[in-house]
Amino acid sequence: MNLKILLRHQNKKGNMQKETHIDWSSLGFEYLPVDSHIRYRWENGKWDKGRLLRKHEISLPIAAACLHYGQECFEGLKAFARKDGSVGIFRPLENASRMNRSARRILCPELPEELFMDAVKRVIEANRHFVPPYGTKGSLYIRPLMIGSGAVIGVGPSDIYDFIVMVMPVGNYYKEGISPVKAIVSDAFDRAAPYGTGSVKVGGNYAASLLQSKIAKKEGFPIVLYPDSKTRSYVDEFGTSNFIAVSKDGAYVTPDSESVLPSITNDSLMALARDLGIPVERRPVALSELPDFVEMGACGTAVVITPISEITYGSRVIKYGSECGPTLRRLYDRLTGIQFGDLPDEHSWLETV
Ligand code: PLP
Ligand code: COI
Repeated sequence: MNLKILLRHQNKKGNMQKETHIDWSSLGFEYLPVDSHIRYRWENGKWDKGRLLRKHEISLPIAAACLHYGQECFEGLKAFARKDGSVGIFRPLENASRMNRSARRILCPELPEELFMDAVKRVIEANRHFVPPYGTKGSLYIRPLMIGSGAVIGVGPSDIYDFIVMVMPVGNYYKEGISPVKAIVSDAFDRAAPYGTGSVKVGGNYAASLLQSKIAKKEGFPIVLYPDSKTRSYVDEFGTSNFIAVSKDGAYVTPDSESVLPSITNDSLMALARDLGIPVERRPVALSELPDFVEMGACGTAVVITPISEITYGSRVIKYGSECGPTLRRLYDRLTGIQFGDLPDEHSWLETV
C-alpha cells in the first residue's frame, strides 16, 4: 500500500480534531482501516440499535457458522463527494433489498430497510473525512456484511448474527481505470450453478472464483468471464461484475441469466442507455456472438465500467480495441457525471447525507 496517511486526533475533552492526509491520487481498491465501523447484533429474534466501534477486529466463537459453513452475505455501494461538499450515496435502497434477497437464500434474518440506511448513514458521518474530495475521482466504498456468529457444528443456520458496515476510500478497481483490460473465458472452473447462489451476493461465490482468478492473472488476464455452468455456451458474467457489450447496430447487450448477480450499475446503465436512445437488449448471449460485438465491458460498483480490449476464448483472441469505445465512454461519463453531481440526477438515484 503506497498511501500516505496521517491522522491527528486532538483534544482530550471529546472534541475530536481530525486531520486526514491521504494521497487521494494513488488510491486503488485496497483495504484501508478508517476510524470506525458500525455493528448490529441479531439475537433472540431481534436487531439491537447498533454501535460504532473504533476497532478493526471482531471476536467470534471458533465454531461460528460463517467460519465453517459460509453463512455470510455482503453488499457493495459507494458514496461520492460533490462540488458543494455534500455527499451522495448511490442507490442504497437497491443494495438493502438485494442484501435481503441474499439473506433469505442463506437463512440469515431480514434486515429492515431503515436499519440498513441508519447503518450506512451513521458510518459515513463518523468517517466523513475519508470521503475522497470532489475532483480526485475517488469515492467512499461502503461494504455491508452479515455473518452467522453463533456456534454450530452440525450443518445448520446460526442463532446469532452480526450486521457490519465498513467503509474505505477507493480509486480504480483495476489499475487501468477506464483503459481497457484483457479478459479470458474460464474453461476450467465454474462460478455459479443453475439454481445455486450466483444471483445472490454470498462470500462462497467469490471463494469459488479465487483459483481461476489467480491462474488468469498469472497468464496476464486481470478479469475472467464465466460461461453458464450448464451448457458452457452462453455468457454469464465476470467474477467481479456484469458483462455488457455493444452490438454492430449500436445496441447495449447484456445477458439474461438466472445465475448472475442483478447488478445495480447495469440496471442504471440500461436506464441511461434508454435515456440516450440506445436500444437495450437483455437476452441470452451466446459465446459464439463474442466476435460480433464492437465494444465490451465489465460493469459494477467497484469496477464502474471497465472496458475489455480483447478476450481469449479457447484458442481465439477477439479484439475490441485499446481505447474505450464511444458508447461505453458516453455511458461512463453520464453515470459518473451523475454520481459526482456534475449532471442532473434525473432518476433520483442519490441519497444525500
Ligand atoms: N456481479 C458480481 C459477481 C459482482 O460481484 C458485482 C459487484 O457487486 C456485480 C456483478 C455488480 O453489481 P453492482 O453493480 O450492484 O455492484
Ligand atoms: C462491488 O462491486 O461492490 C463488489 O462487491 C465486487 C467485489 C468483487 C469487489
